[in-house]
Amino acid sequence: MGKILITGGLGQVGMVLSKALKEKYGDNNVVVSDIHEKGASGVFELLDITDVERLREIVQKHKITTIFHLAAILSAKGEADPLWTWDLNMQGLFNVLELGKKKLVQKIFFPSSIAVFGKQSKLINAPQSSITDPVTVYGISKVSGEYWCQYYHNRYGVDVRSIRYPGLIGHQSLPGGGTTDYAVDIFHYAVKNEDYECFLKADSCLPMMYMPDAMRATIEVMEADVEAIKIRTSYNLNGFSFTPEELYQEIKKHKPDFKITYKPDSRQTIADSWPKTIDDTEAMIHWGWQSNFNIQEMVMDMLSNLKVKYINEPIKL
Ligand code: NAD
Ligand code: SER
Repeated sequence: MGKILITGGLGQVGMVLSKALKEKYGDNNVVVSDIHEKGASGVFELLDITDVERLREIVQKHKITTIFHLAAILSAKGEADPLWTWDLNMQGLFNVLELGKKKLVQKIFFPSSIAVFGKQSKLINAPQSSITDPVTVYGISKVSGEYWCQYYHNRYGVDVRSIRYPGLIGHQSLPGGGTTDYAVDIFHYAVKNEDYECFLKADSCLPMMYMPDAMRATIEVMEADVEAIKIRTSYNLNGFSFTPEELYQEIKKHKPDFKITYKPDSRQTIADSWPKTIDDTEAMIHWGWQSNFNIQEMVMDMLSNLKVKYINEPIKL
């Protein structure tokens, strides 16, 4: 993988991915960047991804060969300012893809999302190729980004690889403004012995994935032989699907006094437009993807890790 740069590296995914990449490739081979520096450690650079000159300067300074381009505004937060979200998500991607075109970096990772799907998509076992009619500016930016990745690959030979993450759940970091955030928040309330008010309906089923699986998928798709990567838009990726009520019942097995109420807000409309389950056959066949965690294992692991964390230091949600 050579020398790695992570953009948006202090967010929910970046905090975990940077650790996984450092463990695998060495601390000095991973440069984390973000628009702020709260929580930064190790080799870090301040970078607004829309600043192309600063991006190029960092790439040249550290002799970067691979970029994990995480910087983006997510589904729910993006709806507050659609044009800003579009500019940031698209300009950031173009700045990174152009470095690939100019052969200043050799490999790029672009995370896409289940948000590319929409009401006309097949929402049960959403197939790899489907109608994609996203309802959020975030989803529009991701589906457009997927096609731009394919374009840069086909036209300029850029080795850009992508997966459509489901909602990601992890104990190491907090989510940054998505529709699936409830599935992380709920654990913090359960561990603190507080009631939780869920912003989605009890029966709102969505595809999710536990962070260790997501990090493994990210590294596996990037390490796969170039011939194995046959899809240059983005690969569907499946973990497990559940409703808030199913997650609550699973947590309740470990925390019998835990209580939930439901107060759906505008995020419900977004959730209603996303798939309930995902078909990831192509990822399995092309580069051998297989998820490890199920909901029971994820819940046990989340609760035990957060319990230890809260004993050591309280987390402010
Ligand atoms: P996040 O919101 O937690 O983190 C995004 C990071 O980008 C933040 O640290 C933020 O400070 C940074 N950022 C914002 N504006 C920036 C700018 N102008 N320049 C540089 N950095 C900037 O999001 P995340 O959950 O870590 O998501 C990372 C990537 O994974 C995103 O592209 C997202 O679309 C994708 N993804 C995430 C999920 C999920 O469930 N978390 C699911 C699907 C896809
Ligand atoms: N988890 C993300 C969100 O809810 C999906 O991309 O926005």
